[in-house]
This record gives sequence, C-alpha cells and structure tokens, in this order.
Amino acid sequence: MKGSSQGQGDILSLIKSRRSVRCFKSEKISPAIIDKIIESASWAPSGLNNQPWKFKVLRNKEKDSLSGYTKYGKIIKEADCALCVFLDKKVSYNYEKDLLAVGAAIQNILLYVHSIKLGACWLGEILNQRQEINIRFNIPETFQLEAVIALGFPAKTSPVTKRKSIKEIKL
Ligand SMILES: Cc1cc2nc3c(=O)[nH]c(=O)nc-3n(C[C@H](O)[C@H](O)[C@H](O)COP(=O)(O)O)c2cc1C
Repeated sequence: MKGSSQGQGDILSLIKSRRSVRCFKSEKISPAIIDKIIESASWAPSGLNNQPWKFKVLRNKEKDSLSGYTKYGKIIKEADCALCVFLDKKVSYNYEKDLLAVGAAIQNILLYVHSIKLGACWLGEILNQRQEINIRFNIPETFQLEAVIALGFPAKTSPVTKRKSIKEIKL
C-alpha cells in the first residue's frame, strides 16, 4: 500500500535488526557471494551516476597483514575477509557528494550481508593508516581508502545498540 506503513515492515525490520558483527566463525564465504555483496554496493545511488567506488577483497595472509594497521585488528583477523572500500578520485566530480555515495554503497553492503545472514563490521579507525595501506598493497593514490568492512559468518548475537528517539532527531 503506497505511503502507508502497512506491508512495508520487512525492509524496516531488516534495517533495525542489523548490528555490527565483530566475532566470526571460521566458515568461508564463497567467491560468488562476495561478488553478490559487491553487486549490492554497485546499485547504490551516486551523483550523476558516476559510481565513484572501488573494492578490494583481502583474505588469508593479506587480510592478516591489514589487521596490523588498526587497533581493531582482532575483528579483521577473525573475519573471513576484509572488503576495502575506496573512493575513486579519477571519476570524482564533487568530493562531498562522492563520499556520500560511497557511504550509501557501504550501507547497501551492510544491509545485504545482514539479509543473507552473514555478518559485517564497518571499520573506520583504520583510515588513520590509509596511505601506509595503499603502499603495502600497491594501490595507486587515486584510490582513497574510505572503509574496511570485516565480513564473515556471525559467531554470536551482537549487543543491542541504542538510537536517539524520533523526537530528538527531528528539527
Ligand atoms: C564511519 C564509521 C566508522 C566505524 N568505525 C569502527 C571501527 O573502527 N571499529 C569498530 O569496531 N566499529 C566501527 N564502526 C561501527 C560502529 O561502532 C557501530 O555502527 C555503532 O556503534 C552502532 O552499532 P551497530 O552498527 O551495531 O548498530 C564504525 C561505523 C561507522 C559508520
């Protein structure tokens, strides 16, 4: 039903039940599923539809090496893979709008991953080491690291997080 809350519960429940997952089982995610996850990102909106994102999947030894660049390295170590999300500065037309588009792509990933019962954690602290990471993994400067998403099969239920009330966030 258009504009009514009836029949619209599924996506809102999905949004509300997503939690950051920081503990993972040792099970592996198949390469086909990883591609689906990246596909979910690719359908995010972007200014002028410029799609200013690039992704790099790190696994095994490379992933463990990445874990050394953040105090949240334990999450990356435990995860099956680390999905690095970059802003592609070559196709960027407006820095602010392009960053917002990358954020939308990341949220698509988090929601899609949750919908298929996998777990993810958006890692931002690692950006303090973005230049060093580009050098370590031979990534050209035109790709600017914006997030690392730890991905895997959830090992336990994540703690409930709080949100401000609707009243508090409405101007
Ligand atoms: C921009 C950004 C950076 C984040 N960086 C980290 C991080 O470095 N380490 C971490 O454990 N969680 C990180 N998070 C996850 C947040 O802590 C988490 O989303 C928030 O506490 C709300 O919890 P929830 O995702 O379970 O609802 C980050 C989230 C965002 C959006």
